[in-house]
Amino acid sequence: MQKQAEACCCQNSEEERALYEAVAKIIEKYKGTDGALIMVLHEAQEVFGYLPMELQKFIADGMDIPIAEVSGVVSFYSFFTPNKRGKHTIRVCQGTACYVRGGKKLVDAIHENLHVETNGTTEDGQFTFEIARCIGACGLAPAVMIDDDVYKQVTPQKLPGILALYRDAEEPEAEEAAEGGDEA
Ligand code: FES
Repeated sequence: MQKQAEACCCQNSEEERALYEAVAKIIEKYKGTDGALIMVLHEAQEVFGYLPMELQKFIADGMDIPIAEVSGVVSFYSFFTPNKRGKHTIRVCQGTACYVRGGKKLVDAIHENLHVETNGTTEDGQFTFEIARCIGACGLAPAVMIDDDVYKQVTPQKLPGILALYRDAEEPEAEEAAEGGDEA
C-alpha cells in the first residue's frame, strides 16, 4: 500500500503524502469486499475533504478498477464532491416560495458579491455556494442558509452585511444576525 502512495506523482508535500498514505490504507482495508468503492470514497473524502480527480485516479489504480467507474460513482451520489469546499457553505433556497419572492435575485447577488459560480468555491477558500430546494422557512421567504444558520426574508441589499459576519469573524454571532434577517 505504501507503494501506491509513492507511485502518485501528485504528492508535492509531506502533508499530502500522509493523506495519500492514509487513503492507501483505506483501500487496503476494503479491497475485495462488497461495496468497497463506496466505503473507500466515503472515507477518502473524510481524509481530504473532497475527491479531486488526482485522488480518484489514485483510488482507481489502488483498487484495479477503471477511473470511469470511480468518477461515475462520485458524480452520481450528491454527498461526494470533486471540488474543494470553502470554510463556510452558503445555500440559497430556490424552492417555489423562495423563488417567487426574489430567490433568483439572491443567486445573482451571490455571483456578483463573491465572484463564484453555483457549486463553486471562492478563491480565498471562504465560501462554497450551492442551491437548496427548501430549507423549511417558506413562510418568510426568500431564505438563505449559511452553515447551520438560517436567514429569512433576505434581500440582495442585506447580503453583503450577512456575508461579512462570516468573512470577518471566526465565530459569527449568528443568532443576532438571523434576528436581523427576520426584521425585513
Ligand atoms: S421554498 Fe425556500 S424555504 Fe421553503
